[in-house]
Amino acid sequence: MHTITLMNQKGGAGKSTAARTLLSAGDATGLRCAFIDADQTGNLADWAMRSAEAGLWAPAFEAYQTHDAQEAEEIAGELAAEGAIDLLLIDTAGDASRDHDAYATLADLILCPMLLSQSDLETARGTANYLFRMRSRTVSPHLLPEFRVVLNRLPSRPSAGDARLVRTVHSSPLVGVSHSEPEEHLKLLSASLQEREAYKMMDREGLLGRILTRHNDQSEAFAKNPKHILNAVAEAEELLSACLELMKGPRP
Ligand SMILES: Nc1ncnc2c1ncn2[C@@H]1O[C@H](COP(=O)(O)OP(=O)(O)OP(=O)(O)O)[C@@H](O)[C@H]1O
Ligand SMILES: [Mg+2]
Repeated sequence: MHTITLMNQKGGAGKSTAARTLLSAGDATGLRCAFIDADQTGNLADWAMRSAEAGLWAPAFEAYQTHDAQEAEEIAGELAAEGAIDLLLIDTAGDASRDHDAYATLADLILCPMLLSQSDLETARGTANYLFRMRSRTVSPHLLPEFRVVLNRLPSRPSAGDARLVRTVHSSPLVGVSHSEPEEHLKLLSASLQEREAYKMMDREGLLGRILTRHNDQSEAFAKNPKHILNAVAEAEELLSACLELMKGPRP
């Protein structure tokens, strides 16, 4: 079982959207998925209910909601022991509670969705630094997961300013690294998410691939496979495969 925790201390950066996108890609590629909604707002769990009511959910997916980090640990432990789940997603709240330590250590990969602005870059850096400092608090720092920033809501045509900002992500040093030590910078995931109407549709209705299938079932031949949904499904699958690629080997 691979576990991905969505984490960013800032609200609205796209944690739940990334979780929905990964669940959509998992569904489309036949992965057995589960999620734990660890955010008090219950956004992801509500979405799963909405999707199930609309018939646009994967009935085999397992959904959990808890605000108790210890309970999340137990759920993840049981799922791993049962061996019936390929991908577990943990969606966290946009804050910096102590529980984040537990959600981080449960993960093989931490994804930090980030909007393309200087302020959002600073917050993503704050989140990365929090995990960076966690290494000094933990007994087995080598067991801590990989951390990647995933750019979200990218415009279809990024401006020169956007491109400059993306370059500064790569060169953003993390605190705690002096110049005499090897530098560590923020790391970007190779895949990103564009601003897409299809992600809003996913939020309203359910899993992307199922939205597409239903649309095709109800449409005339010329209106099947609308490009805006196909592109989102392809992007979702790219996001998932970039994550799976990172989690292929043993933990660092
Ligand atoms: N790539 C995108 N394209 C279109 N809409 C998006 C995209 N990413 C996020 N949104 C929209 O922005 C809003 C905030 O996103 P989301 O709920 O994923 O953020 P979050 O990090 O989970 O926030 P919170 O910390 O409050 O849980 C949602 O309404 C979502 O549908
Ligand atoms: Mg959320």
